[in-house]
Parts: sequence; structure tokens; C-alpha cells
Amino acid sequence: MGGAAMTTTVITGIGELVTNDPARAEQGGLLGLLTDAAVVVEGSHVAWVGPAADAPAADVQVDAGGRAVIPGFVDSHSHLVFAGDRSAEFEARMTGQPYTAGGIRRTVARTRAATDEQLTSHVARLVAEMRAQGTTSVEIKSGYGLSVHDEARSLAVARQFTDETTFLGAHVVPADTTSEDYVALVTGPMLAAAAPHARWIDVFCEDGAFDVDQARAILQAGTDSGLRGRLHANQLTYGGGVRLACELGLVAVDHCTYLSDADVAALASSGTIATLLPGVEFSTRHPYPDARGLLDAGVRVALASDCNPGSCFTSSMALCIALAVREMRMSPAEALHAATATGAAALDRDDVGVLAPGKAADLVLLDAPSYVHLAYRPGVPLVAGVWQAGRPVV
Ligand code: NIG
Ligand code: FE
Repeated sequence: MGGAAMTTTVITGIGELVTNDPARAEQGGLLGLLTDAAVVVEGSHVAWVGPAADAPAADVQVDAGGRAVIPGFVDSHSHLVFAGDRSAEFEARMTGQPYTAGGIRRTVARTRAATDEQLTSHVARLVAEMRAQGTTSVEIKSGYGLSVHDEARSLAVARQFTDETTFLGAHVVPADTTSEDYVALVTGPMLAAAAPHARWIDVFCEDGAFDVDQARAILQAGTDSGLRGRLHANQLTYGGGVRLACELGLVAVDHCTYLSDADVAALASSGTIATLLPGVEFSTRHPYPDARGLLDAGVRVALASDCNPGSCFTSSMALCIALAVREMRMSPAEALHAATATGAAALDRDDVGVLAPGKAADLVLLDAPSYVHLAYRPGVPLVAGVWQAGRPVV
């Protein structure tokens, strides 16, 4: 038998530790805060969390010097597999043009023309950019291929970087087909080619993309193939997408910008998480979603980047937190929790987003005394170190 013992690392001198551990809520509030804390990492997992004075010895010791440590961000919504640039559209929007989903087709043309190697190296660059900003878990969607071949290869590329891959063949209807024919393709041969590479299936349910009946049929076909459903809904207009997600009991429905009272009630009673993507409103000039109203109604809220070339090309979860605090009236604690623990819940994961024994050792050392600085110092790079599955990566 034998085999080398796993290396242990103790991070000590943590001025403020965000655990997100519900067992610490009584003293530490929503974030399960500890002060003067230490964390012991063994292999890829957290082995011990507690007061620095009680920390056990370890092979490697790291001194946080009184700075804050938080769980790595869990970015539960991104579209990283693409080629090309749409900065001209952003510039036009900032001088008065509206956002339209039609721009997606421009990215589709560029993505189809890219090689697998080009797509892979582009995703690698974006994932590294995210990691350097503290994101240790990311969901990645397809959706810029829109052919059997290009959707399957987009997912194969995404799969090299994460287990949380999402088939979004139903992003828009390509120019050369009818929506009826395209839904038949998505639910038939495209789904068959995509399913082996994906965990989730998603639909852009919106005027100009797919209606509620089409979304229902596509999600049902995906579920029948062993995928789990999630949905883009109510991003640009009011509509039935959010209520469909709640009716189907999806784990999360994303955007939630235009919500009626009935939508909010459906979210509150279903337990479906509302994933808000404030970088999109920043980049499209639509109004920010009503996070405060959702939280006060008892809805679980997650925050994610939606990093994509069209509606929002940020990879910064810290920016999303700052926008959520300033523009959506979330408290700094609510926003950080939404970007970590609730982001994990939106992927139906309980092994990340929380720092407690047995959880993944995904940690971020901030160059700041408190997590509040994520919103208090917007735009300032505050990530001093990142451990992913126990390995120092930044
Ligand atoms: O989540 N809403 C649909 N899809 C993306 C935008 C895609 C694009 O504009 O390229 C989103 O915002
Ligand atoms: Fe999206």
C-alpha cells in the first residue's frame, strides 16, 4: 500500500474569513464570518477551519497578514466559446442604439470559421482571466455554433475547462432556416451530438428567439436525454419564461430583468433561483433587475457574469458584486453570498462556494481587510492569491 501523504497547508493570520457555512450563521451571519481565523487545506479539500490560535500544524504555512479570505467565486452563467469582437456594437449602444439579439448571428459566423485550436486557446485565455480575478468555478455554454457540428465541438472545447457545460443550441434561429425546422434540429440530431458533452440544457426564451412553447419542448427533450434544464428568461421584455422555469422546477432561471408580480410570486414559491447578471444591464442600458424586491419576497438570488461578446463582455465577478450593491440594493454580504454559495446552488453544487471541512479548497486571498472592499473599491484589482482545489494558481 503506501502512497505519499497529502500535503497540508495552513493559511493563518486571516483577519476576516468568509465561510458561507450555515453552521456559523448564528455568530457569523449570512457569510458565516470568522475573525483572526485559519484554514487548513489537505490535498484538494478544506480539512479544518477555526480560530488562528487553535490551528493545527501543516507542511506549508501561509500568512494572510490580517487580510480577508473568501470562497472562490462561482460564476454560474457564461458564454466563453466564441470568436470575434463586437465592441463596435457596444460603442453604438453607448450612443443610443438598442441591444438586439441579432448580433448573436455575427458571432456565430466568426465562431464557425474558427478552428478548434483557436476556440480552445480563446477559452483558455478567458478562464485564466477569470481565475486571476478569483473565479474558481465556471459554467460555460455553447450557443454560437448553431449547427450539429459546431454545437458539439463548442461543448467539447468547453468540457476541457469545466464539468458545468450547457448546451444552448436554442440561442437564436440561424438565418438560413425556419424556427420550426430549427427546433426539430435542436431537439433531434443536435441534442444527440451535444448531450455527451453537456450537463445542462438552456434556451433563450425571448421575443426574437424562442417562445414559451418552444422552450418547453426543447427543455423536455433535453431532460429526456439526461440533461438538466436552465433558462434565459425575461431579459429584454416581460413574458412567460420565468413562470415556465418555476413550473418545471428548474434549479435556476437567468436574467430576470422584466418581472411581473406573478413572476416574483412564482419564484418565491418554487424555490427556483433567480440568477441576476448586472453586467448585462451595464452594457445594454436596460434597467437593472430588482434584486431587493426579489430578496424581500423570499427569492434566492445568485449573481453571475454572463461573460459573452455581445450583451456583456466582463469576466469580473467583483464588478457584478459592486453593481449589485450600488444599483440593485443588495448588501455587500448578500452580493458576495450570491456570487459564491448561491452561484453554487444555481449549479446544484454544494461542494464549492463554502469553506468548511470536506468542501473544495477554492479560496481567494484579498488584498483588503474585509470582503466589503469588493464593492467599496470598485474597479480595483484586489485578488492577492487564489487556491483552486488546494493548488495555488494565482
Ligand atoms: O445571455 N441572451 C442571450 N444571450 C447572451 C447574449 C448573446 C450575445 O449578444 O452574443 C446573453 O445576454
Ligand atoms: Fe447568457
